[in-house]
Amino acid sequence: MRQSSLVVVANRLPIDDSTAPDGACEWRRRPGGLVSALHSPLRQTPATWVGWAGGTGPAPALPDVDGVRMRPVPLTAEDLRDHYEGFVNATLWPLYHDAVEQPEHHRRWWEAYQRVNQRFAAAVAEVAEPGAVVWVQDYHLQLVPGLLRALRPDLRIGFFLHVAFPPPELFMQLPRRAELLRGMLGADLVGFQRAQAAHNFAQLADRVLGLPATDRRIAVDGRIVRVGSFPVSIDTAEMAALADRPDVADRAKRLRRDLGSPERVILSVDRMDYTKGIEQRLKAYSELIADGHIKVQDTVLVQVAVPSRERVGQYQILRERVEREVGRINGEFGRVGEPAIHYLTQPFGRAELAALYRIADVMAVTPLRDGMNLVAKEYVAARVDDTGALLLSEFAGAAAELAQAYLVNPHDLEGLKQGLLAALRAQPEQVRGRMRAMRTHLRQHDIHAWARSYLAALDQDSALLSRLGTTR
Ligand code: ADP
Ligand code: F6P
Repeated sequence: MRQSSLVVVANRLPIDDSTAPDGACEWRRRPGGLVSALHSPLRQTPATWVGWAGGTGPAPALPDVDGVRMRPVPLTAEDLRDHYEGFVNATLWPLYHDAVEQPEHHRRWWEAYQRVNQRFAAAVAEVAEPGAVVWVQDYHLQLVPGLLRALRPDLRIGFFLHVAFPPPELFMQLPRRAELLRGMLGADLVGFQRAQAAHNFAQLADRVLGLPATDRRIAVDGRIVRVGSFPVSIDTAEMAALADRPDVADRAKRLRRDLGSPERVILSVDRMDYTKGIEQRLKAYSELIADGHIKVQDTVLVQVAVPSRERVGQYQILRERVEREVGRINGEFGRVGEPAIHYLTQPFGRAELAALYRIADVMAVTPLRDGMNLVAKEYVAARVDDTGALLLSEFAGAAAELAQAYLVNPHDLEGLKQGLLAALRAQPEQVRGRMRAMRTHLRQHDIHAWARSYLAALDQDSALLSRLGTTR
């Protein structure tokens, strides 16, 4: 078994199932923030990525992808049901997102969470060379830092949570809250998207485990665990270059024509998830049409909502409700050849997404709660001519950085409608000033800066940094 000095551990591998068997692997740019985020900084880095390759049964043998070694972790159908669909996405996910849907608690799911986390930790222990840096990602694997420390005390372990981390009042509902906190505290550095999340975590370490804790340092078992916020980002230059490509510009022109050359295009791009505020947005849009503020002949909404976690009940119910509402709005307000909403559930390639961003006069990103939201940042990066208005939820992590967006509270329907109208009617000079400021911010705070700052904090001798993207 070859070993690596940098090991990334995430629930999924970034491999496209369909291309893996013939060896022609590509990074899986499947919808989802984590793979999008890690793809750029890791490319051509001598590292191993430990994760699930999709499907059930024995793990397939996989070739390296863009110079990164793939180490698949096998999952059974039962693991998938009780870990990924159960504890991960029906207990933790809703609880971490303000309990906008009711979190479920089942003892069997907790057993699966422990079992799968143990399997991931054992896989990492095998592929990490002595003294290696291990970077554990996200809420699927919160026990891995603690389990790994017990197996391999020589490792330097980082944990980063890509999603929101809840206030203590919500986290305290978890029957196994102490074990989850202890698992994360197995790391040397625990990173969050926002300072508030780091504060919540420190408060919980104190309240649940009685540990001496500040927002930056927690003392546990004679060690110091550092805590901090590291807002994740995108490859800003890559998205800007893509959006600027002549073929993407042509595609954008064609898309606009295909939409009937409307005066204004509103775009939303989400995973089909109840945290994304899709239903609230549809309601705001349809009320604006009904009130006569928006005319379907001039203004269209393109809603991309790619299905996600399709075997989890709350996701099935959401999809049915969204599709019923899209049908109702189109039935009521559309005309032949002129729907009010262009509704798409397909995954798109990066160039097609960039073309969509280019045609959006208003990008509506209005989640009820979101750790960061990379779509908002991708849109800003793609607006290479500084046009376009970003309508952004106050409850997306991105709002802390993109202060020049049109900020709205998506729970406030009237506020959401007013915000959408303000973005649609904004003067070009005003839009340009705001967009320019946001693009400047993202040029400096891109994904490479994020990876460097996290790894520098984790591996203080920084030897690792020189190996990031070595051949890029
Ligand atoms: P989350 O991680 O909750 O899905 P983010 O907005 O942070 O939310 O990340 C979503 C990522 O998935 C972005 O990089 C976005 O470009 C990508 N994505 C979303 N919808 C699609 C789609 N239909 N086709 C391809 N990529 C998509
Ligand atoms: O951002 C949270 C997250 O769970 C990521 O880990 C993942 O990239 C994304 O959402 C998509 O979710 P899933 O892997 O369940 O399709």
